[in-house]
Amino acid sequence: MQDQNILSRIQQIDGLETLQLQDAVVKLAELATAEARAHTTPQEQRLFLQRWYGNDPGYFWLTFSKVRSKAPRESVWSKFGLLQMLKGPANEYIQWGMLSQEPKEGFDLLREYFDTLVTNATDEHRYLLVRFLWESRNEGIKSTISENWLKKASPDIKRVLGQNFNEFSRHAEHLLKVWKAQVETSSEKSALAHEHVDLSLPGVQRRIGSHHLIRQVLQEIEDIFFSIGFSVVEGPEIETPYYNFEALNIPEFHPVRDDMDTFYLDLPKGAPTPLLLRTHTSPMQIRTMEKQKPPVRVIVPGKVYRRDNPDATHSFIFHQVEGLAVDSDITFCDFTGTIEYFVKQFFGPGVKTRFRPSYFPFTEPSVEFDVSCIFCGGSGSAASGGTCSKCKGAGWIELFGAGMVDPAVYGFVNYDAKKVSGFAFGMGVDRLAMLKYQIDDIQVFFQNDVRFLPQFP
Ligand code: FA5
Repeated sequence: MQDQNILSRIQQIDGLETLQLQDAVVKLAELATAEARAHTTPQEQRLFLQRWYGNDPGYFWLTFSKVRSKAPRESVWSKFGLLQMLKGPANEYIQWGMLSQEPKEGFDLLREYFDTLVTNATDEHRYLLVRFLWESRNEGIKSTISENWLKKASPDIKRVLGQNFNEFSRHAEHLLKVWKAQVETSSEKSALAHEHVDLSLPGVQRRIGSHHLIRQVLQEIEDIFFSIGFSVVEGPEIETPYYNFEALNIPEFHPVRDDMDTFYLDLPKGAPTPLLLRTHTSPMQIRTMEKQKPPVRVIVPGKVYRRDNPDATHSFIFHQVEGLAVDSDITFCDFTGTIEYFVKQFFGPGVKTRFRPSYFPFTEPSVEFDVSCIFCGGSGSAASGGTCSKCKGAGWIELFGAGMVDPAVYGFVNYDAKKVSGFAFGMGVDRLAMLKYQIDDIQVFFQNDVRFLPQFP
Protein backbone atom coordinates (compact mmCIF):
# COMPACT_ATOMS: atom_id res chain seq x y z
CA MET A 1 0.00 0.00 0.00
CA GLN A 2 1.16 3.53 -0.75
CA ASP A 3 2.79 5.35 2.15
CA GLN A 4 0.50 8.25 1.44
CA ASN A 5 -2.58 6.14 2.05
CA ILE A 6 -1.20 4.68 5.28
CA LEU A 7 -0.33 8.14 6.51
CA SER A 8 -3.76 9.53 5.73
CA ARG A 9 -5.38 6.61 7.60
CA ILE A 10 -3.23 7.49 10.62
CA GLN A 11 -4.07 11.21 10.35
CA GLN A 12 -7.78 10.33 10.37
CA ILE A 13 -7.43 8.95 13.90
CA ASP A 14 -7.54 12.53 15.21
CA GLY A 15 -11.12 12.99 14.03
CA LEU A 16 -12.44 9.62 15.18
CA GLU A 17 -14.80 8.89 18.03
CA THR A 18 -13.36 6.62 20.72
CA LEU A 19 -15.63 3.81 19.54
CA GLN A 20 -14.17 3.94 16.04
CA LEU A 21 -10.57 3.82 17.24
CA GLN A 22 -10.22 0.10 17.47
CA ASP A 23 -11.37 -0.60 13.91
CA ALA A 24 -8.98 1.97 12.53
CA VAL A 25 -5.95 0.63 14.42
CA VAL A 26 -6.77 -3.01 13.74
CA LYS A 27 -6.95 -2.20 10.03
CA LEU A 28 -3.47 -0.67 10.23
CA ALA A 29 -2.25 -3.75 12.15
CA GLU A 30 -3.55 -5.97 9.33
CA LEU A 31 -1.75 -3.87 6.74
CA ALA A 32 1.51 -4.14 8.69
CA THR A 33 1.19 -7.90 9.08
CA ALA A 34 0.41 -8.35 5.39
CA GLU A 35 3.51 -6.39 4.48
CA ALA A 36 5.66 -8.37 6.89
CA ARG A 37 4.44 -11.53 5.19
CA ALA A 38 4.92 -10.24 1.66
CA HIS A 39 8.56 -9.12 1.93
CA THR A 40 10.80 -12.04 1.45
CA THR A 41 14.38 -10.76 1.33
CA PRO A 42 16.20 -9.47 4.40
CA GLN A 43 16.72 -6.16 2.59
CA GLU A 44 12.98 -5.73 2.02
CA GLN A 45 12.24 -6.71 5.61
CA ARG A 46 14.66 -4.11 6.90
CA LEU A 47 13.03 -1.37 4.85
CA PHE A 48 9.60 -2.45 5.94
CA LEU A 49 10.57 -2.45 9.61
CA GLN A 50 12.06 1.03 9.33
CA ARG A 51 8.97 2.45 7.70
CA TRP A 52 6.57 1.01 10.24
CA TYR A 53 8.52 0.62 13.49
CA GLY A 54 11.51 2.88 13.00
CA ASN A 55 11.39 6.60 12.96
CA ASP A 56 11.20 7.07 9.26
CA PRO A 57 8.32 7.77 9.25
CA GLY A 58 7.43 5.25 11.99
CA TYR A 59 3.78 4.47 11.28
CA PHE A 60 3.43 2.48 14.43
CA TRP A 61 4.77 5.26 16.68
CA LEU A 62 2.63 7.84 14.92
CA THR A 63 -0.43 5.70 15.55
CA PHE A 64 0.69 5.10 19.12
CA SER A 65 0.96 8.78 19.98
CA LYS A 66 -2.42 9.55 18.43
CA VAL A 67 -4.13 6.75 20.35
CA ARG A 68 -2.35 7.83 23.51
CA SER A 69 -3.56 11.39 23.28
CA LYS A 70 -7.13 10.09 22.97
CA ALA A 71 -6.80 7.35 25.59
CA PRO A 72 -4.00 8.20 28.00
CA ARG A 73 -4.39 5.16 30.25
CA GLU A 74 -1.99 2.31 29.52
CA SER A 75 -4.55 -0.31 30.45
CA VAL A 76 -6.73 0.57 27.45
CA TRP A 77 -4.07 0.61 24.74
CA SER A 78 -4.46 -3.05 23.94
CA LYS A 79 -8.20 -2.59 23.63
CA PHE A 80 -7.58 -0.22 20.77
CA GLY A 81 -5.62 -2.69 18.67
CA LEU A 82 -2.22 -1.22 19.47
CA LEU A 83 -0.79 -4.49 20.67
CA GLN A 84 -2.03 -6.27 17.59
CA MET A 85 -0.24 -3.67 15.50
CA LEU A 86 2.86 -3.99 17.60
CA LYS A 87 2.94 -7.74 17.50
CA GLY A 88 1.99 -8.19 13.85
CA PRO A 89 5.48 -8.77 12.37
CA ALA A 90 6.64 -10.79 15.38
CA ASN A 91 3.76 -13.18 14.85
CA GLU A 92 4.89 -13.66 11.30
CA TYR A 93 8.54 -14.27 12.22
CA ILE A 94 7.85 -16.73 14.96
CA GLN A 95 5.47 -18.85 13.02
CA TRP A 96 6.08 -22.42 13.74
CA GLY A 97 7.09 -23.34 10.22
CA MET A 98 9.72 -20.67 10.09
CA LEU A 99 11.20 -21.44 13.47
CA SER A 100 11.35 -25.19 13.00
CA GLN A 101 12.66 -25.16 9.43
CA GLU A 102 14.97 -22.17 9.52
CA PRO A 103 15.49 -21.38 13.18
CA LYS A 104 18.37 -19.03 12.54
CA GLU A 105 16.54 -17.06 9.88
CA GLY A 106 13.42 -16.75 12.04
CA PHE A 107 15.37 -15.50 15.03
CA ASP A 108 17.45 -13.15 12.87
CA LEU A 109 14.29 -11.47 11.65
CA LEU A 110 12.94 -11.34 15.14
CA ARG A 111 16.11 -9.71 16.36
CA GLU A 112 16.01 -7.19 13.55
CA TYR A 113 12.48 -6.32 14.49
CA PHE A 114 13.16 -6.15 18.20
CA ASP A 115 16.25 -3.98 17.75
CA THR A 116 14.31 -1.56 15.57
CA LEU A 117 11.65 -1.23 18.23
CA VAL A 118 14.03 -0.80 21.13
CA THR A 119 16.15 1.82 19.43
CA ASN A 120 13.02 3.80 18.68
CA ALA A 121 11.57 3.53 22.15
CA THR A 122 12.76 7.01 22.97
CA ASP A 123 10.64 7.70 26.01
CA GLU A 124 9.31 5.84 28.98
CA HIS A 125 5.93 5.01 27.44
CA ARG A 126 7.45 3.58 24.30
CA TYR A 127 9.89 1.64 26.41
CA LEU A 128 7.10 0.13 28.49
CA LEU A 129 5.32 -0.98 25.37
CA VAL A 130 8.38 -2.77 23.98
CA ARG A 131 9.02 -4.37 27.31
CA PHE A 132 5.45 -5.57 27.35
CA LEU A 133 5.91 -7.07 23.89
CA TRP A 134 8.85 -9.04 25.19
CA GLU A 135 7.72 -10.26 28.57
CA SER A 136 3.92 -10.12 28.83
CA ARG A 137 2.81 -13.46 30.21
CA ASN A 138 0.02 -14.01 27.70
CA GLU A 139 0.95 -11.92 24.72
CA GLY A 140 4.72 -11.59 24.96
CA ILE A 141 7.19 -13.02 22.44
CA LYS A 142 9.09 -14.76 25.20
CA SER A 143 6.19 -16.83 26.50
CA THR A 144 4.75 -17.46 23.03
CA ILE A 145 7.96 -19.08 21.83
CA SER A 146 8.71 -20.97 24.97
CA GLU A 147 5.20 -22.23 25.79
CA ASN A 148 3.72 -22.75 22.33
CA TRP A 149 6.68 -24.08 20.48
CA LEU A 150 9.80 -24.83 22.46
CA LYS A 151 8.07 -27.10 24.96
CA LYS A 152 6.24 -28.94 22.19
CA ALA A 153 9.15 -29.27 19.75
CA SER A 154 10.32 -32.72 18.73
CA PRO A 155 13.65 -33.82 20.23
CA ASP A 156 15.57 -33.44 16.95
CA ILE A 157 14.97 -29.69 16.64
CA LYS A 158 14.54 -28.88 20.32
CA ARG A 159 18.28 -28.39 20.92
CA VAL A 160 18.98 -26.02 18.09
CA LEU A 161 15.74 -24.16 18.67
CA GLY A 162 16.58 -23.84 22.35
CA GLN A 163 20.07 -22.53 21.62
CA ASN A 164 18.75 -19.87 19.26
CA PHE A 165 16.05 -18.91 21.70
CA ASN A 166 18.51 -18.57 24.60
CA GLU A 167 20.78 -16.37 22.53
CA PHE A 168 17.89 -14.18 21.51
CA SER A 169 16.62 -13.98 25.08
CA ARG A 170 20.00 -12.86 26.39
CA HIS A 171 20.22 -10.28 23.64
CA ALA A 172 16.70 -8.94 24.32
CA GLU A 173 17.20 -8.72 28.09
CA HIS A 174 20.52 -6.98 27.70
CA LEU A 175 19.12 -4.51 25.18
CA LEU A 176 16.17 -3.65 27.40
CA LYS A 177 18.42 -3.19 30.41
CA VAL A 178 20.83 -0.85 28.64
CA TRP A 179 17.99 1.01 26.99
CA LYS A 180 16.11 1.51 30.25
CA ALA A 181 19.14 3.19 31.79
CA GLN A 182 19.45 5.47 28.77
CA VAL A 183 15.78 6.39 28.67
CA GLU A 184 15.88 7.20 32.36
CA THR A 185 18.89 9.48 32.10
CA SER A 186 17.55 11.27 29.07
CA SER A 187 14.11 11.85 30.65
CA GLU A 188 15.88 13.12 33.75
CA LYS A 189 17.98 15.46 31.64
CA SER A 190 15.01 16.79 29.74
CA ALA A 191 13.07 17.26 32.99
CA LEU A 192 15.99 19.22 34.41
CA ALA A 193 16.22 21.31 31.28
CA HIS A 194 12.58 22.31 31.77
CA GLU A 195 12.92 23.10 35.43
CA HIS A 196 14.47 26.54 35.41
CA VAL A 197 14.91 28.18 38.76
CA ASP A 198 13.94 31.81 38.52
CA LEU A 199 15.66 33.45 41.45
CA SER A 200 13.87 36.73 40.86
CA LEU A 201 10.43 35.24 41.70
CA PRO A 202 9.06 36.09 45.16
CA GLY A 203 9.34 33.20 47.62
CA VAL A 204 6.41 31.21 48.96
CA GLN A 205 5.09 33.09 51.93
CA ARG A 206 3.87 30.89 54.72
CA ARG A 207 1.76 32.49 57.42
CA ILE A 208 3.35 32.26 60.79
CA GLY A 209 0.96 30.79 63.33
CA SER A 210 0.40 32.17 66.81
CA HIS A 211 -0.16 30.74 70.24
CA HIS A 212 -3.71 29.87 71.17
CA LEU A 213 -5.24 32.58 73.34
CA ILE A 214 -5.35 30.23 76.33
CA ARG A 215 -1.65 29.54 75.92
CA GLN A 216 -1.01 33.29 75.81
CA VAL A 217 -3.06 33.91 78.95
CA LEU A 218 -1.29 31.08 80.75
CA GLN A 219 1.98 32.75 79.82
CA GLU A 220 0.77 36.13 81.17
CA ILE A 221 -0.24 34.51 84.46
CA GLU A 222 3.05 32.65 84.74
CA ASP A 223 5.03 35.85 84.08
CA ILE A 224 3.20 37.76 86.82
CA PHE A 225 3.71 35.08 89.45
CA PHE A 226 7.24 34.42 88.31
CA SER A 227 8.05 38.07 88.94
CA ILE A 228 7.06 37.71 92.62
CA GLY A 229 9.05 34.57 93.33
CA PHE A 230 6.75 31.70 92.32
CA SER A 231 8.06 28.83 90.23
CA VAL A 232 6.06 26.78 87.71
CA VAL A 233 5.43 23.03 88.09
CA GLU A 234 3.24 20.68 86.10
CA GLY A 235 1.50 17.45 87.02
CA PRO A 236 -0.41 14.48 85.58
CA GLU A 237 -3.88 14.87 84.10
CA ILE A 238 -4.72 11.29 85.05
CA GLU A 239 -4.89 11.09 88.80
CA THR A 240 -5.77 8.73 91.60
CA PRO A 241 -8.73 9.52 93.88
CA TYR A 242 -6.20 9.83 96.70
CA TYR A 243 -4.49 12.91 95.21
CA ASN A 244 -7.60 14.41 93.63
CA PHE A 245 -9.77 14.01 96.76
CA GLU A 246 -8.61 12.17 99.88
CA ALA A 247 -5.31 13.93 100.51
CA LEU A 248 -7.15 17.20 99.96
CA ASN A 249 -9.34 16.36 102.90
CA ILE A 250 -12.26 15.24 100.70
CA PRO A 251 -13.09 11.71 101.90
CA GLU A 252 -15.37 9.40 99.94
CA PHE A 253 -19.06 10.39 100.12
CA HIS A 254 -18.14 14.01 100.95
CA PRO A 255 -20.80 16.20 99.27
CA VAL A 256 -18.08 18.31 97.56
CA ARG A 257 -17.38 15.38 95.26
CA ASP A 258 -20.82 15.95 93.76
CA ASP A 259 -19.78 19.45 92.66
CA MET A 260 -16.92 17.99 90.69
CA ASP A 261 -18.66 15.37 88.61
CA THR A 262 -15.76 13.20 87.63
CA PHE A 263 -14.65 11.22 84.58
CA TYR A 264 -13.34 7.82 85.71
CA LEU A 265 -11.18 5.66 83.45
CA ASP A 266 -12.36 2.20 82.44
CA LEU A 267 -9.72 -0.09 83.90
CA PRO A 268 -9.34 -3.86 83.80
CA LYS A 269 -10.76 -5.71 86.81
CA GLY A 270 -8.26 -5.96 89.66
CA ALA A 271 -6.47 -2.68 88.85
CA PRO A 272 -4.70 -1.53 92.04
CA THR A 273 -6.47 1.84 92.18
CA PRO A 274 -9.22 3.58 90.24
CA LEU A 275 -7.99 6.36 87.96
CA LEU A 276 -9.73 9.59 86.98
CA LEU A 277 -9.18 12.74 84.95
CA ARG A 278 -8.23 15.37 87.50
CA THR A 279 -11.11 17.71 88.26
CA HIS A 280 -8.81 20.50 89.43
CA THR A 281 -5.11 21.27 89.67
CA SER A 282 -5.18 21.03 93.48
CA PRO A 283 -3.71 17.47 93.57
CA MET A 284 -0.43 19.15 92.70
CA GLN A 285 -0.51 20.87 96.10
CA ILE A 286 -0.07 17.43 97.63
CA ARG A 287 2.46 16.15 95.11
CA THR A 288 4.56 19.29 95.54
CA MET A 289 4.55 19.21 99.33
CA GLU A 290 5.34 15.49 99.31
CA LYS A 291 8.48 16.24 97.36
CA GLN A 292 9.53 19.53 98.88
CA LYS A 293 9.98 20.92 102.36
CA PRO A 294 8.77 24.51 103.09
CA PRO A 295 9.15 27.20 101.93
CA VAL A 296 6.99 26.40 98.90
CA ARG A 297 5.90 28.94 96.31
CA VAL A 298 4.55 27.32 93.14
CA ILE A 299 1.93 27.77 90.50
CA VAL A 300 0.57 24.82 88.50
CA PRO A 301 -0.95 25.53 85.09
CA GLY A 302 -2.82 22.71 83.38
CA LYS A 303 -5.93 21.10 81.92
CA VAL A 304 -8.72 19.76 84.08
CA TYR A 305 -11.91 17.83 83.31
CA ARG A 306 -15.43 17.75 84.70
CA ARG A 307 -18.70 16.26 83.56
CA ASP A 308 -20.24 19.72 83.32
CA ASN A 309 -22.82 20.45 80.65
CA PRO A 310 -21.38 22.87 78.09
CA ASP A 311 -22.74 26.42 78.06
CA ALA A 312 -21.31 29.93 77.62
CA THR A 313 -19.18 29.67 80.78
CA HIS A 314 -18.82 25.89 81.29
CA SER A 315 -16.83 23.35 79.38
CA PHE A 316 -16.04 19.72 80.25
CA ILE A 317 -12.38 20.49 79.64
CA PHE A 318 -10.90 23.74 80.88
CA HIS A 319 -7.74 25.19 82.36
CA GLN A 320 -6.72 26.13 85.83
CA VAL A 321 -3.71 27.65 87.47
CA GLU A 322 -3.19 26.43 90.98
CA GLY A 323 -1.17 28.50 93.40
CA LEU A 324 0.41 27.38 96.67
CA ALA A 325 2.57 29.30 99.12
CA VAL A 326 3.61 27.66 102.39
CA ASP A 327 6.15 29.01 104.85
CA SER A 328 6.63 29.56 108.54
CA ASP A 329 4.79 32.88 108.81
CA ILE A 330 2.35 33.37 105.94
CA THR A 331 -0.76 35.34 106.88
CA PHE A 332 -4.13 36.10 105.31
CA CYS A 333 -2.72 39.56 104.48
CA ASP A 334 0.03 38.00 102.36
CA PHE A 335 -2.68 36.07 100.61
CA THR A 336 -4.96 39.02 99.80
CA GLY A 337 -1.97 41.18 98.85
CA THR A 338 -0.69 38.55 96.43
CA ILE A 339 -4.08 38.02 94.82
CA GLU A 340 -4.81 41.71 94.46
CA TYR A 341 -1.38 42.33 93.01
CA PHE A 342 -2.04 39.64 90.42
CA VAL A 343 -5.49 40.92 89.50
CA LYS A 344 -4.30 44.52 89.03
CA GLN A 345 -1.39 43.34 86.92
CA PHE A 346 -3.60 41.14 84.83
CA PHE A 347 -6.70 43.35 84.34
CA GLY A 348 -5.25 46.79 84.99
CA PRO A 349 -5.63 49.08 88.02
CA GLY A 350 -9.29 50.05 87.29
CA VAL A 351 -10.88 46.70 88.05
CA LYS A 352 -12.82 46.25 91.28
CA THR A 353 -12.38 43.06 93.31
CA ARG A 354 -14.02 41.38 96.27
CA PHE A 355 -13.67 38.32 98.49
CA ARG A 356 -16.68 36.28 99.50
CA PRO A 357 -16.74 33.62 102.17
CA SER A 358 -16.85 30.17 100.68
CA TYR A 359 -16.08 26.57 101.48
CA PHE A 360 -13.39 24.16 100.31
CA PRO A 361 -12.42 21.17 102.44
CA PHE A 362 -8.73 21.90 101.88
CA THR A 363 -8.71 25.60 102.85
CA GLU A 364 -9.81 27.32 106.05
CA PRO A 365 -10.99 30.02 105.82
CA SER A 366 -12.06 29.73 102.20
CA VAL A 367 -13.04 32.48 99.84
CA GLU A 368 -14.30 33.06 96.34
CA PHE A 369 -12.65 35.91 94.54
CA ASP A 370 -14.81 38.02 92.22
CA VAL A 371 -14.08 40.87 89.81
CA SER A 372 -16.54 43.49 88.66
CA CYS A 373 -18.27 42.38 85.45
CA ILE A 374 -16.50 43.92 82.50
CA PHE A 375 -19.46 43.30 80.20
CA CYS A 376 -21.92 45.51 82.08
CA GLY A 377 -19.36 47.63 83.99
CA GLY A 378 -20.55 46.08 87.23
CA SER A 379 -24.11 47.42 86.87
CA GLY A 380 -25.75 44.06 86.35
CA SER A 381 -27.83 45.41 83.42
CA ALA A 382 -27.21 44.77 79.74
CA ALA A 383 -26.74 47.78 77.44
CA SER A 384 -29.78 46.66 75.44
CA GLY A 385 -31.90 46.56 78.58
CA GLY A 386 -32.64 43.61 80.88
CA THR A 387 -30.13 41.81 83.02
CA CYS A 388 -26.55 41.20 81.93
CA SER A 389 -26.36 37.60 80.74
CA LYS A 390 -22.67 37.23 81.68
CA CYS A 391 -22.89 38.04 85.39
CA LYS A 392 -26.60 37.15 85.54
CA GLY A 393 -27.34 40.59 87.01
CA ALA A 394 -24.89 40.30 89.91
CA GLY A 395 -22.40 42.86 88.59
CA TRP A 396 -19.62 40.49 89.71
CA ILE A 397 -18.00 37.48 88.06
CA GLU A 398 -16.48 34.66 90.07
CA LEU A 399 -12.82 34.21 89.15
CA PHE A 400 -11.49 31.62 91.51
CA GLY A 401 -11.62 29.80 94.77
CA ALA A 402 -8.90 30.20 97.37
CA GLY A 403 -8.08 30.23 101.04
CA MET A 404 -5.58 29.46 103.76
CA VAL A 405 -4.38 25.86 103.58
CA ASP A 406 -6.38 23.72 106.00
CA PRO A 407 -4.06 22.25 108.66
CA ALA A 408 -5.61 18.82 107.99
CA VAL A 409 -3.89 18.83 104.57
CA TYR A 410 -0.44 19.19 106.17
CA GLY A 411 -1.09 15.89 107.91
CA PHE A 412 -1.14 14.10 104.55
CA VAL A 413 2.29 15.41 103.55
CA ASN A 414 4.12 15.23 106.86
CA TYR A 415 4.33 18.98 107.40
CA ASP A 416 4.11 20.22 110.98
CA ALA A 417 0.81 22.16 111.02
CA LYS A 418 1.97 24.06 114.11
CA LYS A 419 5.02 25.44 112.37
CA VAL A 420 3.77 26.26 108.87
CA SER A 421 0.97 28.24 107.31
CA GLY A 422 0.09 29.09 103.75
CA PHE A 423 -2.47 29.94 101.16
CA ALA A 424 -3.72 28.30 97.97
CA PHE A 425 -5.86 29.33 95.05
CA GLY A 426 -7.26 27.78 91.88
CA MET A 427 -8.08 30.07 88.97
CA GLY A 428 -10.23 29.26 85.96
CA VAL A 429 -7.95 30.40 83.15
CA ASP A 430 -10.61 30.24 80.43
CA ARG A 431 -12.86 32.57 82.40
CA LEU A 432 -9.95 34.96 83.02
CA ALA A 433 -9.30 35.00 79.27
CA MET A 434 -12.98 35.59 78.52
CA LEU A 435 -13.12 38.55 80.84
CA LYS A 436 -9.92 40.16 79.73
CA TYR A 437 -10.56 39.73 76.00
CA GLN A 438 -14.35 40.16 76.12
CA ILE A 439 -15.17 36.73 74.76
CA ASP A 440 -18.73 35.81 75.51
CA ASP A 441 -18.62 32.05 74.90
CA ILE A 442 -16.07 29.67 76.40
CA GLN A 443 -16.74 27.10 73.65
CA VAL A 444 -14.79 29.10 71.05
CA PHE A 445 -11.56 28.08 72.81
CA PHE A 446 -12.13 24.46 71.92
CA GLN A 447 -13.75 24.68 68.49
CA ASN A 448 -10.49 25.40 66.70
CA ASP A 449 -12.09 27.78 64.26
CA VAL A 450 -9.22 29.45 62.39
CA ARG A 451 -11.25 32.64 62.09
CA PHE A 452 -11.11 33.00 65.87
CA LEU A 453 -7.42 32.32 66.46
CA PRO A 454 -5.84 35.05 64.26
CA GLN A 455 -7.78 37.72 66.16
CA PHE A 456 -5.26 37.23 68.93
CA PRO A 457 -1.91 37.15 67.15
C1 FA5 B 1 -11.62 24.43 92.51
O1 FA5 B 1 -11.46 23.78 91.53
C2 FA5 B 1 -10.63 24.42 93.60
N1 FA5 B 1 -9.65 23.42 93.38
C3 FA5 B 1 -10.01 25.82 93.66
C4 FA5 B 1 -9.17 26.04 94.87
C5 FA5 B 1 -7.83 25.82 94.80
C6 FA5 B 1 -9.80 26.46 96.06
C7 FA5 B 1 -7.03 26.03 95.93
C8 FA5 B 1 -9.02 26.63 97.18
C9 FA5 B 1 -7.67 26.45 97.09
P1 FA5 B 1 -13.83 25.52 91.69
O2 FA5 B 1 -14.59 24.28 91.49
O3 FA5 B 1 -14.61 26.68 92.17
O4 FA5 B 1 -12.62 25.27 92.61
O5 FA5 B 1 -13.12 25.90 90.32
C10 FA5 B 1 -12.22 26.95 90.24
C11 FA5 B 1 -12.47 27.81 89.00
O6 FA5 B 1 -12.48 26.99 87.82
C12 FA5 B 1 -13.84 28.47 89.00
O7 FA5 B 1 -13.81 29.64 89.73
C13 FA5 B 1 -14.06 28.72 87.53
O8 FA5 B 1 -13.37 29.90 87.13
C14 FA5 B 1 -13.38 27.54 86.87
N2 FA5 B 1 -14.35 26.51 86.46
C15 FA5 B 1 -14.99 25.61 87.22
N3 FA5 B 1 -15.78 24.81 86.47
C16 FA5 B 1 -15.61 25.20 85.20
C17 FA5 B 1 -16.12 24.75 83.93
N4 FA5 B 1 -16.94 23.70 83.82
N5 FA5 B 1 -15.73 25.40 82.80
C18 FA5 B 1 -14.87 26.44 82.88
N6 FA5 B 1 -14.34 26.90 84.03
C19 FA5 B 1 -14.70 26.30 85.18
